[in-house]
Amino acid sequence: MPEIISAIDIGTTKICALMAAVTTDSLGRTSLKMLGEGQVASRGIRRGVVVNVPEATAAVGEAIEKCEKSAGHQILGAYVGIAGSHIGTRNSKGVSPVDKRHGITGNDMQRALEGARAVALPENQEVIHTIAREWTVDGQTAVQHPVGMSAFRLEVDAHVVTGSSTAVQNLVQCVVAHGIDVEELVLEPLAANEAVLKPEERRMGVAVVDMGGGTSDLAIFIDNRLCHTVILDMGGNHLTNDVAVGLRCPFETAEELKLRYGSALPERIADDETVWATVFGEKAERSFSRRFVCEVLEARAIEMMEVIGEKLDASGYLDRLPAGLVLTGGCSQLQGLTELGRGVLNMPVRVGTPATNLPITGMSRNLLTPTYSTSVGLLLWGLNADERSIHTRYEADNGANNSSTKWVGQAAKWFKYLLPDRN
Ligand SMILES: Nc1ncnc2c1ncn2[C@@H]1O[C@H](COP(=O)(O)OP(=O)(O)OP(=O)(O)O)[C@@H](O)[C@H]1O
Ligand SMILES: [Mg+2]
Repeated sequence: MPEIISAIDIGTTKICALMAAVTTDSLGRTSLKMLGEGQVASRGIRRGVVVNVPEATAAVGEAIEKCEKSAGHQILGAYVGIAGSHIGTRNSKGVSPVDKRHGITGNDMQRALEGARAVALPENQEVIHTIAREWTVDGQTAVQHPVGMSAFRLEVDAHVVTGSSTAVQNLVQCVVAHGIDVEELVLEPLAANEAVLKPEERRMGVAVVDMGGGTSDLAIFIDNRLCHTVILDMGGNHLTNDVAVGLRCPFETAEELKLRYGSALPERIADDETVWATVFGEKAERSFSRRFVCEVLEARAIEMMEVIGEKLDASGYLDRLPAGLVLTGGCSQLQGLTELGRGVLNMPVRVGTPATNLPITGMSRNLLTPTYSTSVGLLLWGLNADERSIHTRYEADNGANNSSTKWVGQAAKWFKYLLPDRN
């Protein structure tokens, strides 16, 4: 276990770098102590994907620098979030024979996961995660810890997450360009859930949607297992854009109106409330009905909830989610969104905020908001990496086939020669 864990959340609207120290108590339980944080507005990212490498690299560098300055340490390696509509997911099975004399070993589990990972991929796609959903030992399903069990055959039902190699490379490049290794690329909804879900919700059955600026990332957990993930091409920027188009005003003005006066429940807004905004082609500000602004937001918010409902339905798990839907990410803070969600989806809906009972001390108030669920979740993903690597994740031998470490070590070394010394 490294002594320091760092996370870089490269979002459509903000980039956040975090650094924490790992501490171990007398019972051997590990937790994190925040050391530093750095945040800047995003550049060069659209809908969760790097579209301008130099711009994005510079912005990532600024966040890293701020974080390092506040921590007083350099970031050497980081867990980095990945999302975007290029992400694909599928469920796949893998099998490994077992030598009955020794029982099931970690190597057997890795072999089974390797089999599940070997899915036929379209060109320019690569595997980001292979996560075990269920282990079956000689036909006995739902085995939680197969290691040591005596058996002939081990099977795994795994969730394979894939992404566009180009998108992956561009994202990695923005980090390794600063001499920082990518410890692992982590699908953003997997990180966010670590920060906001209650164990009871994850056990009973719950969907979590990280509604950011450019994407909304959905993950379903039942019986403590990841069952389904999907990245939706919609986020807070769509709401802002609708207001900008509706009022014919600049995006920034619409964003400010949304943040200050926005609500997904226009019927709660008095008829005569007005807001002022600069519009294209006019020098003076113009007044608008606040209710009208909220009606624009409501229309898009209903559509978003309907899309979430369709995706839950298509997943086949809709009727196995008694804990309902947990919304997180900056966009989940839109006033009235949970209430609207409950009405559209007819299920429990709540906003998920990084909980104060997480094994992290020293978090600023800033981090205890839904906007930072993914950033904080990335640190937690790093904290739990050792435990997970045995039971849930395939680690390729020598990193030779592992996309999340393959280029990083080499690329980082390569880039370190190109960059001026950061000291
Ligand atoms: N109080 C609020 N009410 C409504 N929307 C909000 C509020 N605060 C933030 N947002 C919206 O949240 C969005 C940003 O969320 P977040 O920081 O989670 O996105 P991101 O991580 O940068 O993007 P992504 O994860 O989609 O790539 C913006 O669209 C912003 O307008
Ligand atoms: Mg995000």
